[in-house]
Amino acid sequence: MKNYERYTTYTPDSYEKQGIMTYLCRIPSDKKIIPVLSQIKGKSILDVGMGTGDYTRLLIDDNEVVGVDQNPHLCQLNIKVHKGDATDLSTLVGGEKFDIVLSTWMTDYLSGEKLQKFFCEARKVLKNGGQLITTTIRPNGWGLVYLLLARHWRGVDKHGCAKRHVVKKLRKAGFNEIKMINLNSWLGIPWACLVIAG
Ligand SMILES: C[S@@+](CC[C@H](N)C(=O)[O-])C[C@H]1O[C@@H](n2cnc3c(N)ncnc32)[C@H](O)[C@@H]1O
Repeated sequence: MKNYERYTTYTPDSYEKQGIMTYLCRIPSDKKIIPVLSQIKGKSILDVGMGTGDYTRLLIDDNEVVGVDQNPHLCQLNIKVHKGDATDLSTLVGGEKFDIVLSTWMTDYLSGEKLQKFFCEARKVLKNGGQLITTTIRPNGWGLVYLLLARHWRGVDKHGCAKRHVVKKLRKAGFNEIKMINLNSWLGIPWACLVIAG
């Protein structure tokens, strides 16, 4: 089954061609994600798994943004992008610390063990008082439909994580203030969460 290497042969243009699940799931979720990101000004941000930078574009004018992605060729924005893994952030950024670690629609590529590692690495590269802002897919209801379609229709190795497990992993990584906001798909059915942890 394919994981992030599925994007190796994508160009920025072919990546931007949106599938049905983008319309059913991601676009409705933007109603809650975009207002949160639009408020961020004057911060240093590490955008992990930024892809072409759909959300990064909202941040680059008013913040200092650095990216990390296993497929850095997708990003054509004029910012530094480290090629590497979300589970290896502290090594990749070499001691740099950030106000915010952002990661949208990336954690579904991580198994439970890797998600824990990503949270721990995010904590390590955050300044005191910094925040992790990320999304997770619910492993039930419409989230489960999304995951099953990804796995069985497209052959992509995707993972969900129940809210209580997300909270447990975040606490283990050293986050204390955790806010989980339900993200709705088409017809208002919850399928994912926006996680804000400090
Ligand atoms: C679905 S795209 C999301 C892109 C962007 N964040 C957005 O919301 O539009 C997932 C991105 O995460 C990257 N990715 C997946 N797993 C990764 C990992 N373990 N480490 C670093 N990047 C990863 C992929 O290469 C891809 O660019």
